[in-house]
Amino acid sequence: MTVRVIVADPLTHRCDVLAVGIFSAPGRLEGIAAKVDQALGGHLVRTLQEERFAGELGKVLVVHTHGRLPAARVAAVGLGERESFTVDRLRLAAAALARATQERRLGRLAFPPLQHKDWEPAVVAATRTEGALLGTYAFTKYKKEKGGDINVELLAANRAEAAAVEAGRRRGQVVADAVNYARDLVNEPANVMTPEALAAEARKIGRGTKIKVQVWGPQDLKKRGMEVILAVGGASAHTPRFILIDYAPARPKRTVAIAGKGVTFDTGGVDIKTAEGMQTMKGDMAGAAAVLAVMRTLPLVAPPVRVTAAIAAVENAVGSRSMRPGDIVRAVNGAMIEIANTDAEGRLVLAEAVAHLAAGSPDEIIDLATLTGAARIALGPFAAAVMGSDQPLVDRLVAAAARAGERLVAFPLFEEYRRAMRSDVADLKNSSGRYGGAQKGGAFIGEFAGSVPWAHIDIAPVSFLETEEGTSVIQPKGASGYAVRTLLEYVTART
Ligand code: BES
Ligand code: MN
Ligand code: ZN
Repeated sequence: MTVRVIVADPLTHRCDVLAVGIFSAPGRLEGIAAKVDQALGGHLVRTLQEERFAGELGKVLVVHTHGRLPAARVAAVGLGERESFTVDRLRLAAAALARATQERRLGRLAFPPLQHKDWEPAVVAATRTEGALLGTYAFTKYKKEKGGDINVELLAANRAEAAAVEAGRRRGQVVADAVNYARDLVNEPANVMTPEALAAEARKIGRGTKIKVQVWGPQDLKKRGMEVILAVGGASAHTPRFILIDYAPARPKRTVAIAGKGVTFDTGGVDIKTAEGMQTMKGDMAGAAAVLAVMRTLPLVAPPVRVTAAIAAVENAVGSRSMRPGDIVRAVNGAMIEIANTDAEGRLVLAEAVAHLAAGSPDEIIDLATLTGAARIALGPFAAAVMGSDQPLVDRLVAAAARAGERLVAFPLFEEYRRAMRSDVADLKNSSGRYGGAQKGGAFIGEFAGSVPWAHIDIAPVSFLETEEGTSVIQPKGASGYAVRTLLEYVTART
């Protein structure tokens, strides 16, 4: 899909589909919609009434113009109530229109300027671009049938407006490309997206940019005492990789460290999952994918913030070299860990990634992981969980998510959750009862952040959508690329 900016009058512009937004105020139309209706001799209003189109958010109605406008069709999209119109709704409406155009196998979809004084053209353009690109995403790499390709045109009234629209388009494109890149990595099957394949993606990010990438294999991990990652990845022929990525602009204002869970497949290990529980476990590297997507995008958005990332890439397989329940392993920071459950492998590999990052004394650490079924049970496929040692950091992440159009819900990290992770035979154990599972998993990881402000984002609820529930016009089935938008917003925000 391409998105272009064109200086043109919507009423004289030639295209396959001309978008018009309709608020759910029945009766009269305003702005472009009213002018379009006039050009069609009242045909738009009449059709809307006949179809009982009430401006319901995201609903699309296509009306043919039969030569009365250069645009072959007008697509009315519901925007919901005028009073509660938001950027999120605009994004959704744009996605709905782009999908409707794609489904009809049409080529050109044109968006007239949004005539609303409170809305900056750049913001509108960014939001529409993002919505259209996210909404038409499909993972078709392994299909002969690829689906339609559309061209989106953002119309501007004049050159000055076009410059603003173009700046917005660029931002929207950059953000959506990042999300769709993460989706691609997560949708790849585990026989393709191995730890080494994740490392290869990281190396690609380093090529031709100032970003530094290092990849450690099993020998390096052994030398550095990262016994935990080796234990988790021990049974797989696809050996572990520890991936370090560093974006270091001149005179950075702060350093944000991010860690990603890169379990390329989670069988559960000896504490094996059920067939059903394993179904989507190729997606257990969604945290790592989000980290890669963010790092790859940083040179394009160039924040004055150093971002240093660590990805623990392993396959949690079953075999004679598997870790066993009861095994005790030593983490890179010296902590001894009892492996109470081999299926709680994410927190094990993240513990070591977070400990490694903490040793570099960044200003804060954020880890991203498909960590727990418990977070999924709590939230359903509608939001991710966030928790941490530093409430202002958690609050900033929640706010960044809201601005980016994602949802983070803050979970508490009571002292009791940390206490639950103490072991009888070692310093810590990786699993402890089923209640409060998301927080216990978080608390375990937090033990490895030392005194560095730390937050943990559990994207297990939303990282991979299997059923219609949770899917939306912006979020098709499969990988969501969740947390990419939040993190990009977080590191580029001027606060
Ligand atoms: N990768 C899973 C968590 C998960 C479940 C992600 C469903 C996405 C969808 C994680 O490694 C896991 O198995 N967690 C266990 C932890 C338990 C053994 C303490 C869980 O949540 O059941
Ligand atoms: Mn697991
Ligand atoms: Zn897992």
